[in-house]
Amino acid sequence: MNHDATHQNPATGWWTEAVIYQIYPRSFADSDGDGIGDLPGITARLGHLAELGVDAVWLSPFYPSPQADAGYDVADYRDVEPLFGTLADADDLIAKAHANGLRVIVDLVPNHTSAAHAWFQAALAAGPGSAERERYIFREGRGPGGAEPPNDWQSVFGGPAWTRVPDGQWYLHLFDTAQPDLNWDNPEVPAEFLDVLRFWLDRGVDGFRVDVAHGLIKQADLADWQEPQEILSGQEADKPRPPMWDQDGVHEVYREWRRLLDGYPGERILVAEAWVEPAERLVRYVRPDEMHQAFNFEYLLAAWTAPAQYAVITRSLEATDSVGAPTTWVLSNHDVVRHASRLGLPIGKPRRNGIGVGDEQPDAATGLRRARAATLLMLALPGSAYLYQGEELGLPEHTTLPDAARQDPTWERSGHTQRGRDGCRVPIPWEADAPSYGFGPTDASWLPQPPVWAEYALDRQRGVPGSTYELYREALRLRRAYGLGRGTLEWLASGDEVLSFRNGDLVVFTNFGAAAAPVPEGEVVHSSGPLNEDGSVPTDVTVWVEV
Ligand code: GLC
Ligand code: MG
Repeated sequence: MNHDATHQNPATGWWTEAVIYQIYPRSFADSDGDGIGDLPGITARLGHLAELGVDAVWLSPFYPSPQADAGYDVADYRDVEPLFGTLADADDLIAKAHANGLRVIVDLVPNHTSAAHAWFQAALAAGPGSAERERYIFREGRGPGGAEPPNDWQSVFGGPAWTRVPDGQWYLHLFDTAQPDLNWDNPEVPAEFLDVLRFWLDRGVDGFRVDVAHGLIKQADLADWQEPQEILSGQEADKPRPPMWDQDGVHEVYREWRRLLDGYPGERILVAEAWVEPAERLVRYVRPDEMHQAFNFEYLLAAWTAPAQYAVITRSLEATDSVGAPTTWVLSNHDVVRHASRLGLPIGKPRRNGIGVGDEQPDAATGLRRARAATLLMLALPGSAYLYQGEELGLPEHTTLPDAARQDPTWERSGHTQRGRDGCRVPIPWEADAPSYGFGPTDASWLPQPPVWAEYALDRQRGVPGSTYELYREALRLRRAYGLGRGTLEWLASGDEVLSFRNGDLVVFTNFGAAAAPVPEGEVVHSSGPLNEDGSVPTDVTVWVEV
């Protein structure tokens, strides 16, 4: 292994080193007691985020939506879902976040609209051959009477990616039936989204997280794809690229958006949610004239072993270096098993989503221990890091959620074979002894909260030395003080058992091995868990040492 490669974070700007906190509005804080989180709830809790020490928030969608996919089915891109509040509440949230020193990134869903969107309703009404249908991907079916779907594509959530309408045509939906894919080859569509971007930029947002950024353009012939459907494009160099993902045309879209953002004062950013492998293809989304960041899902999915972590960190840095972009790091979001539980499963048996009562259960203590070590490792890496609400409390996945409570469309569409993502979306606990653990003023919670939430509540951790919340807070304080985000990475050791690198004045050391490891020389300034009495580093602990 290469022990002396040095990496320097190339670009400049707030976002290159920012820690960005993902808020899932349904589950963050409920102001009105209806059991669904809302914008006034978020605004009232902004103090928590300022205290935690993050730089920005990213809000998952809060736009008018039938909520077929928890808001990723947008019916109107220029308003707020009444469940979540009003446009005035959004303005208030943006203003108060800015007053708290927090930037605001909103979610943009350009691959598909909701079936309830005025455009789709008009397309249904106008019929085959109309200009209205040209905004979506309508086709005649195959086989006798056109009774078979136009191609063999499957929906990411399970079942066919096509649904037939009463006049006989079919429309494409890579996700739920209620999420028809837009036709980005029709100039009306890009024009509309430029206008949507302006709408939110004018309201003061600092950027956009772009949903399914690798999906907008489909291969023109909509060729069959015999492989199982996965949101991860997963192409290896020698395999053909799936016809629905990562087509070259998407980059033109983002270049145009970048030109628009660059015309606004301040540094407004674009973040790609692009499940694209390998890293060399992913970084095409963050070339200098395209997006600013892309989520690093390869890092999120990497196994908890020293060689796997070394490999993914090195590959990530090299790939982003090749285009002059900073790297991003992420361990959890609203689509994957929370890392405090994911890392509690046997190593090498990853589970991206959906643990149910009948499944192998993660080991909670091991999971939390590794999650804390992983977080401390991540927050010392140069680049930008994303946190997902509740991870600062060490929240586990709800792995025993009753199946009857499940809301993720994946559960139904997969014929109850994929449990889906509800387990990471459970409303978060603020106060151990309050109704709904302080999520809202009543007991109501759109997904049931497990009793164990009391232990993880913020008020049980705030000011408690060694708590996960204080671990995060101190890590973010030190990260800033040592300039880790804009720093450099120099590998010191990378073996089968330990990983160690230097970033500025800090040496970061993680022990993955079963045996205790000697602590690097210097002053230990932070640690993901207690050290042994002889000062050595126990298994699954990360330490930060000033040298
Ligand atoms: C993205 C979102 C996910 C959503 C899907 C369809 O992957 O993160 O939650 O279901 O896009 O919009
Ligand atoms: Mg509410």
